[in-house]
Amino acid sequence: MTKYAILGFGVVGTGVAEVMAAQREKLAAAAGEDMELGYILVRRDMPDSPWKDKMVKDFAVIENDPDVSVVAEVIGGVGPAYEYSRRAILAGKSVVSSNKELVATHGLELAKLAKEHGVSYLFEASVGGGIPLLRPLSRCLAANRIDEVYGILNGTTNYILTAMDAQGQDFADALKKAQELGYAEADPTADVEGIDACRKTAILADMSFGCNPDPASIPTTGITSVAAADLELARSLGYTVKLLGRAMRTENGCRAFVQPHLVPLTHTLASVNGVMNACAIRGSAVGEVILCGPGAGRYPTASAVAADIADAVRHRAAPVVPDLGALGGKLAPEEELASPWYVRVCAKPDEVCAAFPEAQPVYGTTMECAFLTEPMARPALMARLAALEAKAVWRVLA
Ligand code: HSE
Repeated sequence: MTKYAILGFGVVGTGVAEVMAAQREKLAAAAGEDMELGYILVRRDMPDSPWKDKMVKDFAVIENDPDVSVVAEVIGGVGPAYEYSRRAILAGKSVVSSNKELVATHGLELAKLAKEHGVSYLFEASVGGGIPLLRPLSRCLAANRIDEVYGILNGTTNYILTAMDAQGQDFADALKKAQELGYAEADPTADVEGIDACRKTAILADMSFGCNPDPASIPTTGITSVAAADLELARSLGYTVKLLGRAMRTENGCRAFVQPHLVPLTHTLASVNGVMNACAIRGSAVGEVILCGPGAGRYPTASAVAADIADAVRHRAAPVVPDLGALGGKLAPEEELASPWYVRVCAKPDEVCAAFPEAQPVYGTTMECAFLTEPMARPALMARLAALEAKAVWRVLA
């Protein structure tokens, strides 16, 4: 018998307590011993909670209890979450986390600390929520050189783009609906500006290539500039628009970026709709694997956190810490990566064809047209676009 603690008791924290209780025997079998909820760290009083007897406000109570072997950090953000994660590791406790901001910014440091102190540091829920993603990437695909990971890593933006595509809503209406349904936060900046997807891309890039990128160095464009016209024009070209986080191995080093992409309607990712996430992994032996599922939410996220708790207990004698920052190094510039492009302009066909003779522009219900280019790097594209007023310029997933 060992004890675990939950730090933070919001949507994910309550989900973890419920899932750990509902699957106690199965999780005990996975862990190799029974696991009892020792403490829940909360700031506010919750006198009506069925877990009120477990609640503490002072982290030192958890830190100083030698029977607690695992701490589940589901607070979010970097302040207290970072401090408590450090202190838990220093006290000889494994830490599991759903906190992509913390893992993306301090994961390497916490992983090193965990190794030094002989405890596990696991964060399966931080990317893809309930989708088993990081373990398959690091363990099941261990026999592969990973060449690229890319995918739909944010449910809120995927919900908005799906509503814009399927129902012809504009961005503002789709965002309002996402907020009403509780997908998007009152301040949706981190989602719609691509910041959340950027943090997850940083984690995937490190897990895949060991490059430990600073999230601030990953070129990131969200979906606020995606117009209803883009969805309409993309569809008539045989594509839809998805916000993709991508990290890849190239001759010049690891590249990572987050941008809206045109995705062929025939591609699996094109049919990943609503709040679902999906991540493709290209490996040297396996080819391409696509993992799809709920990327957020109480129980999907708790599913991943609870499994991490059991795994940390199972491996108490031989702790598990992902090999972050194995290679180090800076990201190679995104703009040098050649790809076909989607361009939306307000121009006549002969004006488009003067700059892009190979283009076959399509017109929608507005005066604007869109066309696809041959593969080229961004600077070459921008030079050819000089005579046109481009309204949207996005990569095409080829
Ligand atoms: N806001 C995130 C999303 C939650 O919409 O995907 C999960 O990280």
